[in-house]
Amino acid sequence: MIRVSVVGAAGYTGGEACALLARHPGVRIEGRFGSRRAQTAGSELPPLDVETLLDPRPDAVLLATPHDVSAELAPRLLAAGARVIDLSGAFRLGDPADYPRWYGFTHPAPELLEEAVYGLTEWCDRRLDGCRLVANPGCYATSALLALRPLLAALDPDHGIVCDAKSGVSGAGRRPDAAYSFAEVSGNFRAYGAAGHRHEPEIRQAADLAPGRSFVFVPHLLPVVRGILSTLHVVFRAPMTERDVAGLFHEAYERAPLVRLLPPGELPELAAVAGTPRCDIGFVLREQGRRGVIVSVLDNLLKGAASQAVQNLNRMFGRDETEGLL
Ligand SMILES: NC(=O)c1ccc[n+]([C@@H]2O[C@H](COP(=O)([O-])OP(=O)(O)OC[C@H]3O[C@@H](n4cnc5c(N)ncnc54)[C@H](OP(=O)(O)O)[C@@H]3O)[C@@H](O)[C@H]2O)c1
Repeated sequence: MIRVSVVGAAGYTGGEACALLARHPGVRIEGRFGSRRAQTAGSELPPLDVETLLDPRPDAVLLATPHDVSAELAPRLLAAGARVIDLSGAFRLGDPADYPRWYGFTHPAPELLEEAVYGLTEWCDRRLDGCRLVANPGCYATSALLALRPLLAALDPDHGIVCDAKSGVSGAGRRPDAAYSFAEVSGNFRAYGAAGHRHEPEIRQAADLAPGRSFVFVPHLLPVVRGILSTLHVVFRAPMTERDVAGLFHEAYERAPLVRLLPPGELPELAAVAGTPRCDIGFVLREQGRRGVIVSVLDNLLKGAASQAVQNLNRMFGRDETEGLL
């Protein structure tokens, strides 16, 4: 049994993680913690106390907490011998100098950024085996990268990549904010962060895009509760056939049980992945195969957060990647 504790268990992603772990045959949940605010709001969860959390010596701790909270907590947990999967952005970027700009704080543990494994599970090879710290990818980043990475070597470096992405409202977490209230979101649709969103440097880094390479990422807020749909516009070095592009995707994901490839010309839909740990990907070719439109969909709270965290937990502890998920 892997003994796991969850911090932020009353939040959207922490709650999903607890539900998955509770039915995972190889996991025992040692503790679930909220914040001090939770207690005053009448939650049954105890507020986080690090000594109480560490007392039963959990093998792993899932942090489903705000970025700055994770950045402070993870070093203490690692020092006590727990392994950490962090769902926030606190350990995703490799350069500490990026944190003040994109996350609004100076990183308290920059030495851990190099050690953290960026947990886009399908692209981790064996780096998750036995690692201590996983930076679970962002929800938008997961959907963009799963669609983009298989094609990178075939793309024309002189042309930019555009990622136009839409997320359901649960992407913003449970915190109260008028901009995400029913009256503002229902019957509405809007772009945000078009001048720069923190998942943009994350995607650039994980796709290894050269500094001068044009990449434009624009997120939108969809009036649904869960799900992300990303549309990527790419230009190939040389004209591609459907068979060429399908071949690249199949090569990348033939041993990836949680990525489903649609037949060429078919595009995926949110309803097919909401509530599942899967990412579905489809594409169409334009302009005689010079241009591609790639669409990927996933559930932001699952493959974009909690189920990917469980996938990573399984890999860290040498278990089947899909255990507890299918
Ligand atoms: N929502 C998504 O689609 C998504 C996807 C990928 C990654 N993420 C990331 O995952 C993390 C959690 O997101 P979420 O959407 O689940 O947020 P959320 O619904 O707002 O939940 C955050 C949780 O963190 C707890 N918390 C806040 N401050 C704390 C502290 N000082 N000590 C202990 N617990 C504290 C909160 O506890 P109380 O409720 O008790 O205050 C709450 O349970 C964030 O970093 C987010 O960026 C979210």
